[in-house]
Amino acid sequence: MSEDSFTVSDGDLVLLIDINKLKNKYMVRITTSNSNSLKKISGLGVLNLNKLVGKKYGSIFEFGRKKLFILQPDIMDKLDSLQRKAQIITPKDSAVIAINCDIKNGDYIIEGGLGSGAMTIVMANLVKPEGKIITYEKSAANINIGVSNLKKCGLDNIVEIKNKDITKGISEKNINSIVLDIPEPWLVVKHAYMALNPGGHFASYSPTMNQVELTINEIRNHNFLNPYTIETLQREIIVGEGGTRPSFEMLGHTGYITFARKVLDIQ
Ligand SMILES: C[S@@+](CC[C@H](N)C(=O)[O-])C[C@H]1O[C@@H](n2cnc3c(N)ncnc32)[C@H](O)[C@@H]1O
Repeated sequence: MSEDSFTVSDGDLVLLIDINKLKNKYMVRITTSNSNSLKKISGLGVLNLNKLVGKKYGSIFEFGRKKLFILQPDIMDKLDSLQRKAQIITPKDSAVIAINCDIKNGDYIIEGGLGSGAMTIVMANLVKPEGKIITYEKSAANINIGVSNLKKCGLDNIVEIKNKDITKGISEKNINSIVLDIPEPWLVVKHAYMALNPGGHFASYSPTMNQVELTINEIRNHNFLNPYTIETLQREIIVGEGGTRPSFEMLGHTGYITFARKVLDIQ
């Protein structure tokens, strides 16, 4: 990796973190053309982006009385920055979906629906630069929020959005994975089977067990291998000398995730 990749340059997406309040994070795209270099950042003020160019990532930037760490945003920072309307799939679940579906560079993935785009962003980050996410979303209002979040994260060029009801059918073929977060995923199983490659992965995220039952029943009507459903629970460990213990708060129930793989025949 060249030295330049550790220096802020025009076009970079940069994360600024308040040294004294680490929860205060600001993500900004560096644009230094004359008309764009002054940027109003909510909670911070008007920043001259030219002053960041050439600074080292990892160093501290003084802005008025504030001191800010300069970092390249990672995927968790990007997810933290999202505007939310629909309930999102959080990283404890999106990470598990990604590994179970073997999502990687070059994959073609169908999603239903986009919502705020959190799951889309995780997948687009993994399939880029050669792959693509095609997301079906029936709400125009949610498309606006999802697109704005994708643009903020610099991943909109990896995603194609279809303003369509996915339960009515999927026109694509030769798809690596199908990932659903909609109220009636069982209505998509037959379309998913037709669209997937042999060996392709089906994943569906649902908040209730009733949805899981209906989905697994429909999966069993098609040639899918080994359908299974899991739940993940995440608890932080608070580390203090001689008093390390689990946090009293935990991210418990969010959704159940059902997986299956397409095969051509079940004996
Ligand atoms: C819970 S949100 C998805 C959140 C998204 N997974 C995320 O992580 O940000 C569900 C979305 O699915 C959309 N939706 C519901 N039923 C749909 C359908 N049949 N076809 C396409 N989109 C649908 C809703 O409009 C909503 O935006």
